[in-house]
Amino acid sequence: KKIAVLNGPNLNRLGKREPEIYGSKTLDDIASELRSAFPDTEFDFFQSNHEGALVDKFSELAESDTNGVVFNPAAYSHTSVALRDAISGAGLPVIEVHISNIHSREKFRHHSYTAEVSKGVITGLGTDGYRFAVAALLGTA
Ligand code: DQA
Repeated sequence: KKIAVLNGPNLNRLGKREPEIYGSKTLDDIASELRSAFPDTEFDFFQSNHEGALVDKFSELAESDTNGVVFNPAAYSHTSVALRDAISGAGLPVIEVHISNIHSREKFRHHSYTAEVSKGVITGLGTDGYRFAVAALLGTA
C-alpha cells in the first residue's frame, strides 16, 4: 500500500523548534521510524512551508494510486479553507496529526478547518501519532 505523509509550515525545523512542546525527533527520524515499522508500505514524504504547495500536493495525490494521507497541517489547520477544500476534493482518507494537544493550548489552536473533513484526528500523543495514523490507515491499528 502507498501512504503519503505531509507536513506543513515550520515542521522542517522539528527537533530544533520548541523541543519542550514538539520533542527532539526530526522529520527524518520520523520517516525512518515509519519505514522500519511498516516495511511493506511505500511512503511519500512531503513537507512545505507554503499553503499552495500543499494544495498542489493534494491534487497530485488525488490523481495517484495513494491509499491514504497522514497530514500535519501545522498552523494552516487553524486558518486554511484552501487546504480544507483540497482534502475534501481529493477523495482520499486523511488522518490529521498534531504532535501537541491543540486543545490544551491557546484558544486559536482549538479549531481546525482541516480536521472537519478528515477521517480522524490524533492530537497530543507526540511524534508517535504519525505511526498510529499510518496503522489506522492500513487497518492494522
Ligand atoms: C501542530 C500544532 C499547531 O497548532 C502548530 O501551529 C504547529 C504544530 C502540532 O503538531 O502540534 O505548527 O500542528
